[in-house]
Amino acid sequence: MEKVEPGVPCHGAAATDLASGQGDLLRQALRTMAASGDVETRLRQHPPGGHRHDRAVLATYLLERGIDTVPDNVLLTSGSQQALDMVLRTLALPGDVLAVDALSYPGIKLLASAHSLKLAPVPVTATGPDLDTLDQMCRARPVRAIYTIPTVHNPLGWVLDREQRERLANLARLHDCLLIEDGTYAFLESSPPPPLQAFAPERTCYVAGLSKNVAPGLRFGFAVVPDRHLEAATSGLRAAAWGAPGVITAIATSWISDGTVTRLEKDRREDAAARQDIARAALAGLDITAHPVSYTLWLALEPHQRTDHVAADLAEQGILVSTADAFATGPTRPRALRLALATPPRDELGAALRRVKDTLDAIPP
Ligand SMILES: Cc1ncc(COP(=O)(O)O)c(C=O)c1O
Repeated sequence: MEKVEPGVPCHGAAATDLASGQGDLLRQALRTMAASGDVETRLRQHPPGGHRHDRAVLATYLLERGIDTVPDNVLLTSGSQQALDMVLRTLALPGDVLAVDALSYPGIKLLASAHSLKLAPVPVTATGPDLDTLDQMCRARPVRAIYTIPTVHNPLGWVLDREQRERLANLARLHDCLLIEDGTYAFLESSPPPPLQAFAPERTCYVAGLSKNVAPGLRFGFAVVPDRHLEAATSGLRAAAWGAPGVITAIATSWISDGTVTRLEKDRREDAAARQDIARAALAGLDITAHPVSYTLWLALEPHQRTDHVAADLAEQGILVSTADAFATGPTRPRALRLALATPPRDELGAALRRVKDTLDAIPP
């Protein structure tokens, strides 16, 4: 019960527990679907990217995030990961350079490898990527795309300010790079600056999904794709998935339309903030970096504390953590752990984290 992260490699928000308490929601949605007259249409073939009326639901929802788009530019996918896959498989060629934060979401490494892209790690600070270095990197060799998580970064939790976003958009324009904006955790920040998509709509693919704000098992996501890339992206999606999943889309769009998603997002923000408070109290005195409303926390270790030893020791106590290696996109491996705060019941989180602190304190310098 004290697991901080599930025992499978999961470098997102350890979202297994995020679905708890939602069985009733699903039962209700299935009952409503069963009672509706057009249930059969959900079993017919859907076009890649989804039907226009389903995309329209997303376009309206995205207005809340500062994205002003039309249904045709929204493609529905099976999660953010498939949206990222679609973008990379269609808009980059093997051997192209993909700039990524030196610490980033591990799924992007899998995709870069799957599509034979070269990762170019951009040094990071606690407040965002080093944009001067990114500029130099783009001058030194062609960079096809920049993958970025501007709002509630995984794993460092930063939210780029307006100036950083403008600079990033201008850099992408100057060097003619595609911007891949990952908004998977953006809902956790209640009033972020506008998304990059608003600064550079002509070159930004915005991807997100409902795994973190609703439930990871739903496998529902979407991408907002600029006009000039729509045809290629749609055909890439056809290759990967043939058509949008009808039943899941029906459930997801009904939860978006009736306000369930907005309500769950608010609940998640409250829960994540409470968990961060517990974590900051339990780990007081340690070097932590995290967004105040998020389900993850970056814990830098002291020079005498080896990440692999600490992770193994914690695992023996039933507390699973990720080491920085999973998030490192280049050769630099910081001495740090990434803790996922979503999995343990909230009333057990403090005790589990105090065990983490005790374990670190017990290591002789
Ligand atoms: C930053 C980021 N992007 C994308 C994903 C993939 O999410 P999905 O479950 O929607 O495919 C994750 C999952 O952890 C993530 O952390």
